[in-house]
Amino acid sequence: MNETHLKNLEQFNIENFQHDLISWFKEEQRDLPWRKDQDPYKVWVSEIMLQQTRVDTVIPYFNRFIDMFPTLNDLAEAEEEKVLKAWEGLGYYSRVRNLHSAVKEVREKYSGNVPDTPQEISGLKGVGPYTAGAILSIAYGIPEPAVDGNVMRVFSRLLSIWADIAKPSSRKVFEEAVRSTISVTEPSFFNQALMELGALICTPTSPSCLLCPVREHCTAFHEGVQAELPVKSKKNKQRDVQLAALILTDEIGKYLIHKRPETGLLANLWEFPNVEIHHPLQYEKFQLADQFNQTFDLIVEPENMIGQIEHVFSHLIWNIKIYTGKIKEGFQESPEWKLVSFEEMEQYAFPVSHQKMRRIYEEYKENAE
Ligand code: ADE
Repeated sequence: MNETHLKNLEQFNIENFQHDLISWFKEEQRDLPWRKDQDPYKVWVSEIMLQQTRVDTVIPYFNRFIDMFPTLNDLAEAEEEKVLKAWEGLGYYSRVRNLHSAVKEVREKYSGNVPDTPQEISGLKGVGPYTAGAILSIAYGIPEPAVDGNVMRVFSRLLSIWADIAKPSSRKVFEEAVRSTISVTEPSFFNQALMELGALICTPTSPSCLLCPVREHCTAFHEGVQAELPVKSKKNKQRDVQLAALILTDEIGKYLIHKRPETGLLANLWEFPNVEIHHPLQYEKFQLADQFNQTFDLIVEPENMIGQIEHVFSHLIWNIKIYTGKIKEGFQESPEWKLVSFEEMEQYAFPVSHQKMRRIYEEYKENAE
């Protein structure tokens, strides 16, 4: 398969390409906080944050995270609750849970030094081929490919590769393309230059070919097919889920919050208790009370519907109706159920959707006063 995909490598001038790409990067690279040094721990944190999240969003999170946990040992020793709080809002929380257990493993097994071989580093939780390649090349100067969606897009155009980048099996084709062209003397700049090119020039729609430092090497540009590449088949549509969440207060005005299970979506984050509803149009408050009773063994009295929000995940969409309500006396706190003041809620990590609910509730309360 690769022989057909990589047929354009034969005419490709690897040395000139490396030179043009890396010279451009040295001149034009953005001043980003994780580029200040090559500390493998910081490179690791930045690469995990940058998966599925834009650079502009990541910058303040990265700075705050490194302020809170300046070294690998600081993170390894931190309480999970504090780590989740530092990640609050970035989404894809399994990334940070994996990072947290992986740094603990590095502390135990490798005396706190991030390993520098593909075999060892790939054995760490949450470190896939992309992250392994990024850390090895950027922090240790080892010529390993770091192929993510951006790099696949760049290479699909450079070498006119028509493999479907939505298929996991295509990654191998692109890894081979990078392995064949990577600079062995400057692999860190090479890989970062590809990421930078993908972000600034070789963008998904309307790439800026006229500004491209490696246009001369680009087969798709010569053939005029850059807009048709990469080939990316559509994923299945997200599933719709209807939820009702209750912002419940007790007799002294404390709020009931619930810790999500330790596995699955948004694991271990805190939330306003909620249930999935199946007949939203005929929905009645007594049904909601009933469902809370059956699901959580809670006696509640729903009051007003104060708003509705939508939150989109990669595989599903939550449509959440937000209700105020009262929790009846006799409720017992437990590790998963807490009664807290509005201010105390700040110390708990909530998913973005539940932070939004909190703001909607705050506005509702202000208007009601
Ligand atoms: N995207 C993924 N990794 C990156 C990095 N190190 N710098 C900028 N953008 C990135």
